[in-house]
Amino acid sequence: EVIEGGGAVVLPGFVDLHTHLREPGREDTETIATGSAAAARGGYTAVFAMANTDPVADNATVTDNVYRTGREVGLVDVHPVGAVTVGLQGRQLAEMGMMAAGAGRVRLFSDDGNCVDDPLVMRRALEYATGLGVLIAQHAEEPRLTVGAVAHEGPTATRLGLAGWPRAAEESIVARDALLARDAGARIHICHASTAGTVELIRWAKAQGISITAEVTPHHLLLTDERLSTYDGLNRVNPPLREASDTEALRSALADGVLDCVATDHAPHAMQDKCCEFAAARPGMLGLETALPIVVATLVAPGLLDWRGVARVMSERPAAIVGLPDQGRPIAVGEPANLTLVDPDRTWEVVPEDLASRSRNTPYTGMTMPAGITATLLRGRVTQLGGEVRW
Ligand code: DOR
Ligand code: ZN
Ligand code: ZN
Repeated sequence: EVIEGGGAVVLPGFVDLHTHLREPGREDTETIATGSAAAARGGYTAVFAMANTDPVADNATVTDNVYRTGREVGLVDVHPVGAVTVGLQGRQLAEMGMMAAGAGRVRLFSDDGNCVDDPLVMRRALEYATGLGVLIAQHAEEPRLTVGAVAHEGPTATRLGLAGWPRAAEESIVARDALLARDAGARIHICHASTAGTVELIRWAKAQGISITAEVTPHHLLLTDERLSTYDGLNRVNPPLREASDTEALRSALADGVLDCVATDHAPHAMQDKCCEFAAARPGMLGLETALPIVVATLVAPGLLDWRGVARVMSERPAAIVGLPDQGRPIAVGEPANLTLVDPDRTWEVVPEDLASRSRNTPYTGMTMPAGITATLLRGRVTQLGGEVRW
């Protein structure tokens, strides 16, 4: 097959360390099939499916099923994420060894949605994970500081009368977990870094030689809490949208390598759970189909990142962090063709009905995106061409 690629940029297939696919349990909002289609359209060849499903992916039966279903769909490599604690309750460690040894070969564990907030549980989890050679990803949120919080703590939340989520809720856990990882000789990955302070803490930890990595979402790179003035629930997300000083710090940290990669935190929700009073809206927004264009808008266009850098933050670094040998590689003779073709000159408008995701909760409706994802190849098979998914 000949793919028209005039003027295209060729990149290694994108790897998303943080995707919510909602299967099992909320197949009305996303399935492994619909989420895989969204991933293919976004240029992804591998996604990590978060464990906060129903039932929770805290055992090998669930993680193996997620893996097998992903293989059957065949559009993207779906890697199950295992829960760190049973039921995401933050108390009893899950059987991480069973999940790692199962068919799903779980290599990433996270209680995302919840934070492993008990320091003793986190310490034991880091020791256990180190023994297994797997990685823990932490949703950094000190829950005693976020009771009732729905928006970033700052002038906007005050003006709008919304309960605030302080930066310290995130940063205190980032600092603590860096120190716990240091003492355990463990690796730790920080989910969705959202504040300038988190950037400084990770910079510090890396300078100490601590094995810490971190991701940032497209929405935290682009959006600020000023959008909340319409009280539109589509802008509610955890951690919350912050301020311009934070987005600026996140952008330059991604460019200079203090932050390692972009991860979508793709979080599908039913519209009745998003279009309601702001404080009642579920947190989370779609991310897979708009991630690359937002990276182009926030980093490539202003000259902070070149296409080599895009390959690094969207593919090479995330693949290296979880140790995927056949992803994130420079395209070379004889290597499996996991790749994405990008048209840097094609602009397109976000129309929720056009998305492949089963949900519609994008905050970008009507926005013009600055780059098209022309094609995606998974091990040489075209999974998406011109936005059309090849099932
Ligand atoms: O906004 C969020 N949505 N943050 C999370 O941590 C969980 C996620 C979800 O599952 O919807
Ligand atoms: Zn999270
Ligand atoms: Zn998440």
